[in-house]
Amino acid sequence: MKRSILICDDEKNIRSGLAMAMELEGYQALTAEDGQIAWSLINKESVDLVITDLRMPNLSGEELLKRISSAYPRMPVIILTGHGTIETAVEAMRGGAIDFFTKPVDLDRLSLVVRKAISSSDLYAEHEKLKLEVEQLKARNRYDRIIGKSQKMVALMDTVSQVAPTKASVLITGESGVGKELVADAIHELSTRSKGPFVKVHCAALTASLLESELFGHEKGSFTGAVKEKRGRFELADGGTIFLDEIGEIDATTQVKLLRVLQERQFERVGGEKSISVDVRIVCATNRDLPKEIEKGNFREDLYYRLNVVHLDVPPLRERKDDIPLLMTSFLTQFNEENNRKLEGFSNQAKRALLSYDWPGNIRELRNCIESAVVLSRSDVVEVEDLPIHIGKAQNPSTVALEVGMTLAEAEKQLIISTLAGCAGNKTKAAQVLGIGRKTLHRKLQEYHIDEA
Ligand SMILES: Nc1ncnc2c1ncn2[C@@H]1O[C@H](COP(=O)(O)OP(=O)(O)OP(=O)(O)O)[C@@H](O)[C@H]1O
Ligand SMILES: [Mg+2]
Repeated sequence: MKRSILICDDEKNIRSGLAMAMELEGYQALTAEDGQIAWSLINKESVDLVITDLRMPNLSGEELLKRISSAYPRMPVIILTGHGTIETAVEAMRGGAIDFFTKPVDLDRLSLVVRKAISSSDLYAEHEKLKLEVEQLKARNRYDRIIGKSQKMVALMDTVSQVAPTKASVLITGESGVGKELVADAIHELSTRSKGPFVKVHCAALTASLLESELFGHEKGSFTGAVKEKRGRFELADGGTIFLDEIGEIDATTQVKLLRVLQERQFERVGGEKSISVDVRIVCATNRDLPKEIEKGNFREDLYYRLNVVHLDVPPLRERKDDIPLLMTSFLTQFNEENNRKLEGFSNQAKRALLSYDWPGNIRELRNCIESAVVLSRSDVVEVEDLPIHIGKAQNPSTVALEVGMTLAEAEKQLIISTLAGCAGNKTKAAQVLGIGRKTLHRKLQEYHIDEA
């Protein structure tokens, strides 16, 4: 859709000159010969940017600017001034104009300023749309801390809501930073035990003997330092859920004891004889490949089958890149609030980089990256310079290398791949840019075996 620019000046030659210049740049130009006419056009037509003279009959440029700033605060206004009115122009900038030009207007600079303003208001609009989508997603999900609308995440959340109300043990696997703990939280929150305790144990953080007494408790005097009896985490979790994080790290003795809890729902404190029964739902997580650990003799197979009644595998971020825009937006909103900043979105370059990068540290890495960008940024959008260098470099090339000797088909394939990457995988957009229909694009993707990941 063509963007509309309203040019307002009482001198006919300036109006028509600027209108022609803007049309040559691909915009639709509207003109008005005084502020009054301009104001009624702004209220009637969809105007994306206003270029206005200051001294005009009926309604002055200053007054027009004032009205626009209060009714359409996002609409960019550029001021034109004759000689000797620079002070007024400075005043106008304070009133919210984005730039000013003295006549005769430097058309090259004007085009540049217009292009930048339009593209930043496009970015803003896109960001607003994504923010709305995040809100809608949160309203729809019963568990709103997990952001994601990719097929893989929707399927995962479906399974989560299905198994949460049961008592089945759940094993959550996935790379570091994919959100395993968040899924565990969701399982507890969505279960009938949500009012009961939710006890988390980071198994890797404790030595073998400490872990055993941490989980099952100990009697007074059972080992040096056990001056009092102590209730273990399983007892504390009675009536609720226990989350054993990094379950792949637990030692052989604790594995045996854990197996017994799963089989008989009973255990003894360290150094104790009395059997204790608890009603606890067990959720575990690991980023290890447990079947491999079983082969190596590090993990008991029988325990594995007991824990793995329901298996939830959280996919890495690179396999669900369509979640990135929502995650970016939601983290930006969050860190804006936390840091009292008002960043309005991401520059196109920054967006391309974030979408192209592979995210080995998954969502945790993305989250940290946005947090530091919000803190570091000096402009009103996140720029590629605000990202860590290795992520900023990840942008897809915006040019295609064509060499003589290449077939036409090969050239077409390269162009399609790069365009798709430039459009962040959005096929409708890519088809538009390429000037072909969506169906044609689909056919070509198949024909050239271009992966639709
Ligand atoms: N889908 C998501 N939506 C919003 N935030 C998420 C999502 N997934 C993960 N996060 C955030 O990313 C960070 C890492 O998530 P989490 O701690 O659950 O990962 P993990 O898989 O347990 O990682 P590790 O294996 O390193 O323990 C957390 O701050 C979490 O809130
Ligand atoms: Mg974790």
